[in-house]
Amino acid sequence: MSEAARRVIYPGTFDPITNGHLDVVERALQVFDEVIVAIAADNTKHPLFSLEERQELARQGLAHLGPKVTVTVFSGLLVDFVQSQKARAILRGLRVVSDFEYEFQMALMNRKLSDQIETFFLMPRDTYAYLSSSIIKEVSRLGGDISPFVPAQVETALRKKFSNKGAA
Ligand code: COA
Repeated sequence: MSEAARRVIYPGTFDPITNGHLDVVERALQVFDEVIVAIAADNTKHPLFSLEERQELARQGLAHLGPKVTVTVFSGLLVDFVQSQKARAILRGLRVVSDFEYEFQMALMNRKLSDQIETFFLMPRDTYAYLSSSIIKEVSRLGGDISPFVPAQVETALRKKFSNKGAA
């Protein structure tokens, strides 16, 4: 396997990163030498956290995995970013059947844009299969306990966000 083939890009919005994302990265490290978590700057979603905040939270949440995992941001087409990193692999998590159609569409479009790049799917632990960043934000906003599902820094950051919003 070439050096480039062992590096995988894990793209997403990460608003914010959750233990489900962490689980996917940990699994990927069993197969790949290096995981680059790539936070999309261009987004049709309206993220709660700024790009810088998402990057910092991801860095903190992944710090225990050491230098094989890096966090960066990207804009423009994902396939162009993957090529700029001299990588050939994209990583996505597959949780439930409803993810499949969207992921299938993205993987095939990315292949159409660059047939040098392959998409790999990993399933997170079943306890995280129903997690999404939106559901975490909603539960936190309404005062529920999200500590089993996110890194401690994310829990604190969400609590701060929503207490500020409440005060506003
Ligand atoms: N654990 C917990 N949650 C998970 C998860 C896991 N293992 N895997 C996915 N999710 C959640 C995410 O938190 C997110 O939740 P949300 O919708 O509530 O925010 C949702 O599932 C999926 O979102 P995400 O993984 O952030 O992907 P996305 O669909 O927002 O991002 C990009 C898609 C950024 C990868 C894609 O738009 C892209 O590549 N953009 C660049 C431009 C481009 O090239 N476009 C053409 C692509 S064909």
